[in-house]
Amino acid sequence: MKKLAVFASGSGTNYEAIAEACADGRIDAEVAILVCDKAGAGVLGRAVRFGTPTLVFNPKDYACKADFEKEIADRMDAIGIDLVCLAGYMRIIGEELLSRYGGRIINIHPSLLPAFKGAHAVEQAVEYGVKVYGITIHWVDESLDGGRIIAQRSFDYDGGDPAEVHRLGQVIEHQLYVETINRILNK
Ligand code: GAR
Repeated sequence: MKKLAVFASGSGTNYEAIAEACADGRIDAEVAILVCDKAGAGVLGRAVRFGTPTLVFNPKDYACKADFEKEIADRMDAIGIDLVCLAGYMRIIGEELLSRYGGRIINIHPSLLPAFKGAHAVEQAVEYGVKVYGITIHWVDESLDGGRIIAQRSFDYDGGDPAEVHRLGQVIEHQLYVETINRILNK
């Protein structure tokens, strides 16, 4: 069975959507590890419920990014990870992980890239008065949210409430991530 790693920093609704799809057979794979850079993140409680092994680390405990990325990559090598899914992992992937897992890392982003890169995509889109919002899944390379696009889905919203955009977007994220992971694994 194919093995996924999910990286997350926050609440973890995307992690849960992926773990649930693996559990009920909609994705023919297992989440073999959850990597989290924040002790106390909501995603960790979800991982306990699904029985996913976790690697939790504090970047401040390491001299540099390459050091913690080496630990992550070593652990993933030991498991035999096929695909890495970033799901609200609020950190730029560095050289160590890219050199060892490049071409096998995907990310979900809450905008229609290349518009609104970075950590505040929804707020910026609302500030612009955007009428067509969307979600992008893309390959991860050394650029910020700039790797080749794999999938996108849009939705209309004409209002000024970032929380509502986020809520509408997350429903799409959960479906699109499951569909896209399947497409990649079945290629
Ligand atoms: C998701 O909306 C994802 O698109 C976003 O973080 C959220 C995590 O939600 N990612 C980024 O903004 C990456 N630049 P979750 O913890 O509920 O899955």
